[in-house]
Amino acid sequence: MTQALADHLPELECHRDRLAATSMRALFAQDADRFETFSAPLDDLLLDYSKTRLDAPALDALLALARDAGVEAAREAMFAGEAINTTEGRAVLHTALRNRSGEPVRVDGRDLMGDVNAVRAAMGAFAAAVRSGEYTVTGGPVTDVINIGIGGSDLGPAMATRALSPYHDGPRAHFVSNVDGAALADCVARLDPATTLFIVASKTFTTAETIANAKAARAWLASHVGEANAGRHFAAVSTNLAATGDFGIDEDRTFGFWDWVGGRYSVWSAVGLSLMIAIGPEDFDRFGDGAFALDEHFRQAPLSQNLPVLLALIGIWHRNVWGYAAHAVLPYDERLARLPAYLQQLEMESNGKRVTAAGQQVTFATNPVIWGEPGTNGQHAFYQQLHQGADIVPCDFLIAASAHEADPARHHMLIANCLAQSQALMAGRSEDEARAQLAEAGFEAAAIDALAAHKTFPGNRPSTTIAYRRLDPFALGRLIALYEHKVFVQGVIWGVNSFDQWGVELGKQLAGRLQPMVAGESEIEGQDGSTAGLLRVIRDLSGG
Ligand code: F6P
Repeated sequence: MTQALADHLPELECHRDRLAATSMRALFAQDADRFETFSAPLDDLLLDYSKTRLDAPALDALLALARDAGVEAAREAMFAGEAINTTEGRAVLHTALRNRSGEPVRVDGRDLMGDVNAVRAAMGAFAAAVRSGEYTVTGGPVTDVINIGIGGSDLGPAMATRALSPYHDGPRAHFVSNVDGAALADCVARLDPATTLFIVASKTFTTAETIANAKAARAWLASHVGEANAGRHFAAVSTNLAATGDFGIDEDRTFGFWDWVGGRYSVWSAVGLSLMIAIGPEDFDRFGDGAFALDEHFRQAPLSQNLPVLLALIGIWHRNVWGYAAHAVLPYDERLARLPAYLQQLEMESNGKRVTAAGQQVTFATNPVIWGEPGTNGQHAFYQQLHQGADIVPCDFLIAASAHEADPARHHMLIANCLAQSQALMAGRSEDEARAQLAEAGFEAAAIDALAAHKTFPGNRPSTTIAYRRLDPFALGRLIALYEHKVFVQGVIWGVNSFDQWGVELGKQLAGRLQPMVAGESEIEGQDGSTAGLLRVIRDLSGG
C-alpha cells in the first residue's frame, strides 16, 4: 500500500463509520449550506458533490491524504516533463499539446513547442484544404472521412466528433476500429470510394487490427479507383513515420506525434485530425483551449477547490473507504453517448493496475469498473439496479444547462430527469413513506404489507453532478481534461503508473499464436483443453 493511503485509511474508515450512522437526508437537513460547501465552480462548470456521504472532517482527511501522497509535487513533475512513466522511461506531456501559455515545455532541456506547433499548422492546412474541397481525391472533393484506429486512436476523436455534432460542418466522419470485417464493410457499404478519404491513426503503427483494417481499406479503394489513385485517399497519424512510409502513405499527408503522448491522451494530437476535419481548425483549437483552462486550474487552484482533485478524492472515498467496485458515468447529454466508452479506456487502462509503480503488489483496491449510458435511456434499462440493487454504484451525472436545439420543453424534461435521479438515489423512499403512498392510492392492508418492501428505496446512494452551460468545443475540452487529471491524481494516491498498459500484451501475443490454428494453417497444439476444444469446434463449424 502506498504509505500515505496506509497512513490515512484508519482515520478515513473512522469517518466512514461515523457517517454511516447519518443519512444523506439528515446531512442536508443539518446544514442549509451543504450545496455551497460541497460544490466547486470553475467559471461556467460546476462540480456538485453534496450528494455524497461526506462532511467537512471527512473531506479534510481526504485532502490531507492527497497532500501526503505528494499530489502537488507529482503534478509539477508531470508538467515539468519528468519521465513519470517509469516503466517506459517517458515523459507525460499531453498538456503540451494544448499549452496556450506561450511558455516553453521542455524534455531533457529541449523545448517541444516548436514541433507541436508545426504539426498543428500542418494538420490545420490539410484540414482546411479537405474541408474547402481544394484537396481532391479521384472523384473530386472529399465527402467522407473514415478514421481507422483503435483504443486511443479511435475513442477520443469518435467521442468528440459525436459530442460536437452541432459544430460539424466538414465532410461526414466515420470511425472503424474493430478488426471484425463487419465494421469496415458496414461503414463503406453506402459510401462512394471515389470521394472517400481514410486516415490511418496508430501511435505505433503496429497494432494488428488497425493494420489489417487499413490493408482491407486500401484493397477496397484500389478495386474501385485503381491502385495508382488509391494513395491520395490515405493520410496517416503516427509516431512511427518509418512504418507509415512503408505502408505507402505520402509524407505530405503524414502527421506525427511523440512518445510522450499516451494513446488514451492523444485526442489533442494529430490523432484528432478526423475531428479537426469535421469541426474545423478553429473549433479544434477551442477544444484545446478548454483543456488548457482546466490544466491551469489544476495547477493553480488550492486542493480544496481543485475540481479534478476533488473528483479523484471522491472516487478514492468510494472505492477504498466504502468499497464500491463500480462507477457509472451517466451523461444527460445524448451527444456524450461515447463518453462512458472513452472513460473506460482513460480510467481502466490507466489505473486498472495491481502493482505499484515500484512493482509491488497492491494491498488495496484500485480502479473501479467504469460503465454507463446516456440518460434518459439508462433509466429505462439499468437504473432499477442503481436504485434497489444489492450493490451501491456511485454515479457521475453530467448535464448542460442549455441545449443546441430550440426546444426548451424537452431539455427541461431532460434536466428534471437528471436531477430527479440523483435526488432519488440520495433520498430514497422509506418503508413508512412507501406504505403511506400505497394507503393513499387505496390499497388494502394486506396488499400494502406485500408491496411495501418492493416500493422502498434505501437511498444514501452517492452521486456527483457535473453541470456546464452548453456542450461546445471549449466545454468538452475542459470536461475531458477534468477526467484526465482526476485519473492522474488517483494514480498518484494508488501509487501506480497511470501511463503504461502492459496488461494488453499477453492477449495480443496469444492471438498471434492462435491465428494460424484458427485459419487451419497449423496443427492445434500446445493449447489448454478448453482452447483446443473451441478451436476444433470453430474449425468444424466454419467448414475448415
Ligand atoms: O492495446 C492497447 C493500446 O496500446 C492502447 O493503449 C492504444 O490506445 C491502442 O492500443 C492503439 O494503439 P496504437 O495507437 O498504437 O494503434
